[in-house]
Amino acid sequence: IGYPLILINFKAYSEASGKRGLQLAKVAEKVSKETGITIAVAPQLTDLAFIASQVEIPVFSQHVDDVPPGSYTGHVTLEAVKDAGAVGTMVNHSERRVRADQVDVIVKRARSLGLTTVVCTNTPEVTAAMAALGPDMVAIEPPELIGTGIPVSKAKPEVVTSSVELVKKVNPNVKVLCGAGITVGEDVAAALRLGTVGVLLASGVVKAKDWEKAILDLISPIIKK
Ligand code: G3P
Repeated sequence: IGYPLILINFKAYSEASGKRGLQLAKVAEKVSKETGITIAVAPQLTDLAFIASQVEIPVFSQHVDDVPPGSYTGHVTLEAVKDAGAVGTMVNHSERRVRADQVDVIVKRARSLGLTTVVCTNTPEVTAAMAALGPDMVAIEPPELIGTGIPVSKAKPEVVTSSVELVKKVNPNVKVLCGAGITVGEDVAAALRLGTVGVLLASGVVKAKDWEKAILDLISPIIKK
């Protein structure tokens, strides 16, 4: 994974489901190739293997369970998302919370499988706690700003800076992303200024009429000239 990182979460949006999910991933790949910026996607789980087989950009799972392969109907294992072609997984999104003890198991098992983990959090304190588990990244997202178009990097910069500060103390190897309400390049630039290595976003791209234009706008401040 390269940084700065733009991670696009397709959530359960119909705009990015099935073939439309593949189209969005292809657009992200095109922009990434043309600009050299790392753009990763987290498609819906039902599309994960299909999309991962069709694009060269990093593909993440949106969620995994803490169980090993075996007799666990309806669960998603780390091994399965790896087999599907994912390079890693998000865990503990505010729309799909996972208990801290389960996050611990997932982070440790992911490491042994060579999968990258992005643990989502809601406050600086939870960010610090999750950083202690040693994921590759934490992603601080105040839930009340998700989907609002009001960027965390502008509305709550102190939440981002205190998360960055606490993570430095707890586990300096863990990288920090921020998300919620990120829609334009200015929001990405602000996030990086606050000490993050990138952003996690969804609606700003998925719900945009022109995906390519939306992604290009997002990365405009970080394109190497
Ligand atoms: O996972 C990213 C997400 O929760 C933020 O959503 O729509 O505010 O970019 P959005």
